[in-house]
Amino acid sequence: MTTHAADTAEPIGPQRQALEDDLVATVVASFDGTADPRLRQVMQSLTRHLHAFIRDVRLTEEEWNTAIEFLTAVGHITDDRRQEFVLLSDVLGASMQTIAVNNRAHKGATDATVFGPFFVDDAPEIPLGGDIAGGASGQPCWVEGTVTDTDGNPVAGARIEVWECDEDGFYDVQYTDDRIAGRAHLFTDDTGRYRFWGLTPVPYPIPHDGPVGKMLDAVGRSPVRASHLHFMVTAENLRTLVTHIFVDGDPQIEIGDSVFGVKESLIKEFSVRAPGTPTPDGRDLGDRTWARTRFDIVLAPAGV
Ligand SMILES: [Fe+2]
Repeated sequence: MTTHAADTAEPIGPQRQALEDDLVATVVASFDGTADPRLRQVMQSLTRHLHAFIRDVRLTEEEWNTAIEFLTAVGHITDDRRQEFVLLSDVLGASMQTIAVNNRAHKGATDATVFGPFFVDDAPEIPLGGDIAGGASGQPCWVEGTVTDTDGNPVAGARIEVWECDEDGFYDVQYTDDRIAGRAHLFTDDTGRYRFWGLTPVPYPIPHDGPVGKMLDAVGRSPVRASHLHFMVTAENLRTLVTHIFVDGDPQIEIGDSVFGVKESLIKEFSVRAPGTPTPDGRDLGDRTWARTRFDIVLAPAGV
């Protein structure tokens, strides 16, 4: 990609400014007849910002071509198991900004963070205390907590989706054998409590063998994410929460998370237990170490 702006040596005179302004105004006006007012607002704002960007960097035609080729490549690599557009949104911070805009802090409700590209529908159901690993390798980790509303009432029957990578840093969908591992859903009990066995999260690089990875390379950015365990919690009349928990002490939190997802309130202690330490449910882990953590979830009311 060229790094030379178009016509940088030439000042942009008033006549040229006026021509460029006219084009923006014409394109914005072309959406005036949009029946849906929200669609009209979005398209007109998009037009203004896109043109402002092109004018700001004085985009060259070669750079425009590169951008088209890049977006085409992002589309070509995307399928039902790989979502390069979500990845692109994530590394540009657009996902976190959308979350910030849409999730006004509400009376102690749990913070949201990025959804990421690895959620899949129809993960298996496990009973309370069940194991989400499904054969995924890693240090067993007991995860427990409660789901309440912002008044502290327990939420019975809340659906909790959890998903994470294995100890090699790969989600099941990144393997080619159709395995389902490191993901499941479960429901809170009558007192709003939940518990399950997962794996102690490890740092992993977002998929960087595609166009988004090439972009990160070009700008010298690391693809590595801070260690985390994904949650999506849904319950009637309450706002759906999409979030992760992060591992206190993970050096990657200081180094930086490649998708800007870390929030202080979501960093949890994962305490590691020596082999032979009795487990909460009596599970025999032989000579393996294991960890435990607690994540109490507070859901905001729906529609706020
Ligand atoms: Fe993830």
